[in-house]
Amino acid sequence: MSRRNLIAGNWKMNGGLHANGALMAALLEGLAKTPPACDIALCAPAVYLAQLSEQLRGTPVDWGAQDVSAHESGAYTGEVSAAMLREFNPRYVIVGHSERRQYHGETDALVAAKAARALAAGITPIVCVGETLAQRDAGQTEDVVKRQLAAVIHTNGHCISEIVVAYEPVWAIGTGRTASPEQAQGVHACLRTQLGAASESAHRIRILYGGSMNAGNAAELLAMPDIDGGLIGGASLKSADFLKIIDLASAEAR
Ligand code: PGA
Repeated sequence: MSRRNLIAGNWKMNGGLHANGALMAALLEGLAKTPPACDIALCAPAVYLAQLSEQLRGTPVDWGAQDVSAHESGAYTGEVSAAMLREFNPRYVIVGHSERRQYHGETDALVAAKAARALAAGITPIVCVGETLAQRDAGQTEDVVKRQLAAVIHTNGHCISEIVVAYEPVWAIGTGRTASPEQAQGVHACLRTQLGAASESAHRIRILYGGSMNAGNAAELLAMPDIDGGLIGGASLKSADFLKIIDLASAEAR
């Protein structure tokens, strides 16, 4: 079964009203010239969701958030609930990004709870998994990503077919060091098998690669059978680079 590629930009803690507006305008202009044949999303800091929903409504570009609270509502200062996100109609929310796991101590169980909140609110969680360099060197890559994904599968049961998975080796994020297509495909195939054991619809689940994906290396990564798109950090902040990746991801479908 062929899955439609998804190219999702992760702006991280970058941007501003003016810069966002200009970046989206440049993207939309490029997409008007060459209509995409893949799904596209921009995941922005929550404070900008109103701006994104305003500027992207009715365009080929969906929008999303970068995190969501595991709690429904109440005394959780600084957190943003799934219901609050929902008011801005995001299609996606990233959960379990390695920067959140690393700097905010997010556990597998917390990430699973966040995915559950997103699903209950009708927002597709992009669940990130990935190993550190030390874990890869110790031969633990598959064990680590399977453990991270298992928590999400355990908590979300049959809803699992509604998620998007992103494999992001921590050592490749923002470092300019990319997993080779074969390294990434190996992990994606392993995750696909795990998803297959949990859901009959696993063949529909998109598994994105993330970690220094750019206009120069996207084609060979996207050519792999189990790589169904990318979660793009740095290169999503430059419209020309992001458009090029979208074009490469569209080529498979044309
Ligand atoms: P990068 O980030 O493309 O800048 O490596 C990817 C991510 O962290 O999602």
